[in-house]
Amino acid sequence: MPKKDYVIQVKNLTKSYGENNVLKGIDLNVERGTMLALLGPNGAGKTTTVRILSTLLKFDGGSVMVEGYDVAKDADKVRSVIGLTGQSAAVDELLTGRENLVMMGRLYRLTKRSAIARANELLEEFDLLDAADRPAKTYSGGMRRRLDLAVSLIATPPVIFLDEPTTGLDPRSRIAMWDIIKKLMANGTTILLTTQYLEEADQLADQIIVIDGGKVIAEGTAKELKGKVGKDRLELAFANEKALAAAQKALGAGVVSVDEKEHSVTIAINDTNEDVKSALDTLSKQKIELIAMAVHKPTLDDVFLSLTGKQKKGDK
Ligand SMILES: Nc1ncnc2c1ncn2[C@@H]1O[C@H](COP(=O)(O)OP(=O)(O)OP(=O)(O)O)[C@@H](O)[C@H]1O
Ligand SMILES: [Mg+2]
Repeated sequence: MPKKDYVIQVKNLTKSYGENNVLKGIDLNVERGTMLALLGPNGAGKTTTVRILSTLLKFDGGSVMVEGYDVAKDADKVRSVIGLTGQSAAVDELLTGRENLVMMGRLYRLTKRSAIARANELLEEFDLLDAADRPAKTYSGGMRRRLDLAVSLIATPPVIFLDEPTTGLDPRSRIAMWDIIKKLMANGTTILLTTQYLEEADQLADQIIVIDGGKVIAEGTAKELKGKVGKDRLELAFANEKALAAAQKALGAGVVSVDEKEHSVTIAINDTNEDVKSALDTLSKQKIELIAMAVHKPTLDDVFLSLTGKQKKGDK
């Protein structure tokens, strides 16, 4: 097999703030043209990791390489190949969207003409043309996030860090942001994204690393991670005890739990379509009437619960 082309290589990364060991030996690799999602609850160390990888923060131990440059020794070189969209945005509130982009283009030493042209391209791509000439402080959260990402793309960097790009966005803006990110991926950009949402990692990432308390607690694809927490479950509810008893008998060994009070049973399912259909067929053949059903998929909460033995922090 050819040797893997890792754009980001992190080995045994450690970082403390005073007594507080925030990163306790993180290892991660991101192959060229792929996305790694760093998934973790509040305070897990996601932003700390991203800030270190993007040269904004010094670290204590381990090694960090980006595009073959050592972050500790060649910070300038690293900066020339990365774009960063952070939780603390780099947008100037008083300038318009267009001015922000042109200014950043000039900082990256584009000529005035190409800065203006690139700004226009990005405004169009990020659906910001209508708002281009309004000060950024008048933008909604979603528009601001798009502008922030556009600003980080002015110089078309081959490596991009996205720190929780969709936290706090409404579902529509989140999906719009995913589309933008998918376009970047289609262009071959290497991306490290942090998120608190398994679904987001599921939608976008090639690989997921789950961190908690500054340590990697699991890694794999979304499917592999969800597989660790168990199968999908189908919950079936019936009108009364008699129907419940009949259903239990009919479904037999597939039943994993029974709720006598709710007159419901839960069965584990693999292939949702086939298994749901076959359960419903079984019930209908025996004329057992169903009053409600629901499919439960493993969620990020289940993953955290099973991996860490505790609920995801920061949730109400
Ligand atoms: N400048 C700082 N000084 C002291 N402690 C810090 C500092 N920045 C972060 N920490 C601590 O480091 C730990 C990790 O923080 P970090 O911001 O990396 O978490 P995160 O995973 O990004 O969380 P969130 O999902 O809330 O953004 C937390 O315990 C935090 O309190
Ligand atoms: Mg953070």
